[in-house]
Amino acid sequence: MKKIVILASGNGSNAESIIRYFKPKKKIKISYIISNKTDAYVLDRAKKHNIPHLVIKNNRFNENKTFDFFKEIKPDLIVLAGFLIKIPINNFSNKIVNIHPSLLPLHGGKGMYGMKVHESVKKYNDCVSGITIHYVNENYDEGEIIFQKKIKINKSDTVKIISEKVKIIEHKFYPKVIESLLN
Ligand code: GRF
Repeated sequence: MKKIVILASGNGSNAESIIRYFKPKKKIKISYIISNKTDAYVLDRAKKHNIPHLVIKNNRFNENKTFDFFKEIKPDLIVLAGFLIKIPINNFSNKIVNIHPSLLPLHGGKGMYGMKVHESVKKYNDCVSGITIHYVNENYDEGEIIFQKKIKINKSDTVKIISEKVKIIEHKFYPKVIESLLN
């Protein structure tokens, strides 16, 4: 049995797609969902699915207690799904993956998250966008790329439509890529 821990700061629609994908599978278990925000909707999703969950406040991510907690639960993979704080990766022995809602290195880096990414795609009149799943290193959005998928953007697509198109492929591919990394 492989264990994953999901870290998310907000809505958690990606977390939900991962939960649903692995629910019927026996070989991979979501052992914890962790948020840095007490009011993150992802925590409601965790409750609904009976998945252990907890809040670790931003400044606590630098504390030994936190590193010890991760050592104790020994996840085979830490999965970031809309997690907005920088992890001091040198203190974690686990592999950490992230999903970014554009084709990195385009529209990535510090401050590029959420709708800002799609606004940037629209501003530059890009005719394609997509998703990037990558390992996390010490710099925002610069870790080794594992997987990318493109989608076509029409001139008439609004920022909202772009974000919706991207969400669809995030939900479709993130769970599968996670599974392939653990097999
Ligand atoms: C996703 O678009 C993901 O690419 C980015 O943060 C967003 C999280 O969305 N890293 P959700 O909370 O999973 O709905």
